[in-house]
Amino acid sequence: MEVQVMGSRIMLMGFGNVGKGFCSLLSEKNSMLKEYYGTDTKVTGITTRTRGCIYDPSGIDIDLLLEEEANDPQRSLCELPGFSAICVNSPYELVQKGKYDVLAECTVTSLQDKSAGLDYIRGALSRGKSVITTNKGPIAFHYEELLDLANKNNGKILFEGTVMSGTPVFSTSVNGLCGSSIRSFMGVLNGTCNYILERMIEGQDYSSALGEAQKKGYAEADPAMDVEGYDSALKALILANVLIKTSPLNLEDVQIKGINSLSPEVLKEAIKGKGRLRLIARGQLDKNKKSISVGPEIVPEGHPLYSLPGATNGLVLETDTLGTVCLTGAGAGSRETGFALLNDLVTLSRPGYERRVI
Ligand SMILES: NC(=O)c1ccc[n+]([C@@H]2O[C@H](COP(=O)([O-])OP(=O)(O)OC[C@H]3O[C@@H](n4cnc5c(N)ncnc54)[C@H](OP(=O)(O)O)[C@@H]3O)[C@@H](O)[C@H]2O)c1
Repeated sequence: MEVQVMGSRIMLMGFGNVGKGFCSLLSEKNSMLKEYYGTDTKVTGITTRTRGCIYDPSGIDIDLLLEEEANDPQRSLCELPGFSAICVNSPYELVQKGKYDVLAECTVTSLQDKSAGLDYIRGALSRGKSVITTNKGPIAFHYEELLDLANKNNGKILFEGTVMSGTPVFSTSVNGLCGSSIRSFMGVLNGTCNYILERMIEGQDYSSALGEAQKKGYAEADPAMDVEGYDSALKALILANVLIKTSPLNLEDVQIKGINSLSPEVLKEAIKGKGRLRLIARGQLDKNKKSISVGPEIVPEGHPLYSLPGATNGLVLETDTLGTVCLTGAGAGSRETGFALLNDLVTLSRPGYERRVI
């Protein structure tokens, strides 16, 4: 049967690791998207905070952009050869007036600015556009509001990349496990902490393990989000509020303990025992009494979260139908998180395969 091909114009907010990973996947998978999913994609706009914005309603030449950008990664997009004629000023103006079907949002949330990206998402949904995002902040803090806005305007919002990058957490837990109740979850959701803890158990002190993680590009220059447990807490909040929509929780409801102030006793215990020290996010998903916590725990040998090398993430779901279901996979990366956006984009193009919203 011939697949009917539909156009899908993308407005990309953020052209960092994830934005570039997504663009290179769009280019690589272009013919597959057409042949299998009937989606003919083009990127009509790309915005950044400090490197300018470009817009061409007939479609930006992504291959040329990636090539020129790789040659000169610090330069404004507008100054790259071939792109000065399509330079525009304001990202928000593009959200409000630009031509697109899907807003792909991959800007950054920090502890200081918890709502970056939120205005872009609100602006797109208010216009009846669909949104795909990897940005935890807007989903962790405003999930219900954004879902209502999407429903009211016949748009959709998908956010696979907000937890465990491209590892399909929501495709699995919301679609693949439909008909099941998920009673609880337990996860290693921050690869940076996993990496640092492994080094500490090998004998390094906290500062040098953190320094090594920063050198390898795992940890942010300001690593507080990771090591103080906030990154895991936001992900746990998203899981809890998406998997069971009743009694939504806020960040204040999460008990958070990071790995930055581990007691010597806990470390000693981890070193001498057979277990492995992990930063664990836990959620109890009882309809009337949900709770979430984040903190270091020793995971015994044989447990599904015991063997997670380096920056790998893992999630254990307790269900009423299958018992324990485990997912392990990448928790970060340009291509891996770009794939989360690709997965969301394909999901949008398959009516009837839309993710069930609980
Ligand atoms: N990297 C990963 O492995 C990973 C995994 C899962 C989820 N995520 C999430 O995905 C998002 C993107 O991550 P990333 O690694 O690509 O970050 P990044 O490399 O720092 O890139 C962020 C991009 O967003 C732009 N930006 C930031 N704030 C903005 C604003 N207020 N308005 C417009 N543009 C803005 C930046 O502009 P400039 O270029 O001017 O700085 C940059 O182009 C983050 O929310 C992150 O938490 C990342």
